[in-house]
Amino acid sequence: MPVSTNNTASRKSLDDDLFILSPRHPDSRLETDWLFLFNKLPPDQWFSADYAYKTSGWLKVHTNIRKRQRILTQISEAYQSGEYDWAEYRSQLLKRISMHILKLHQHHGVEDEGFFPEFIRMYPQLQAGFEILGRDHVRLDALLDKLQVQNDTLARSEVEDKMLAEQLHQTLVEATDLLSQHLTDEEDLVIPILGLRQG
Ligand SMILES: [Fe+2]
Ligand SMILES: [Fe+2]
Repeated sequence: MPVSTNNTASRKSLDDDLFILSPRHPDSRLETDWLFLFNKLPPDQWFSADYAYKTSGWLKVHTNIRKRQRILTQISEAYQSGEYDWAEYRSQLLKRISMHILKLHQHHGVEDEGFFPEFIRMYPQLQAGFEILGRDHVRLDALLDKLQVQNDTLARSEVEDKMLAEQLHQTLVEATDLLSQHLTDEEDLVIPILGLRQG
């Protein structure tokens, strides 16, 4: 009977849904077809003894990126709220921004030149996912170039320039948004590959 078939079908899809894990944030751009490894190695196992020695290096790099990004935003907010004066703001921000930009470029380079092509060779069906991440790097590079120009201007600006600080803050906010989506999507795609590969 059609009715009972429908009921069986919807019951089955309900059961299936219970076993399908979702990526870790609602704005994930990863398609369900790309989550076959994520479902085998979900995030609650990434730090378990069987996998941590293969996964924790990558996660630690991302933790440090998030931390540096957060500190820069906090410094910028401290100036915006009047907690830091211009001299304090500049001395806290200038070197930190240069270091952050350098480390991000290095990290993206290693991924674009080495890891991502290797992962695509291992799992060609994930190519479109890695292309999304590669395009994020291009967008991030453009934001980092803008940040570098603003930071260079800040280095020359001994007289307070509120407009510059506002523009720099805006760039930091945009970088935070893009990075938080990029890093999480990347982890959902990459960490299970690292954890499940041999050796
Ligand atoms: Fe990346
Ligand atoms: Fe990364």
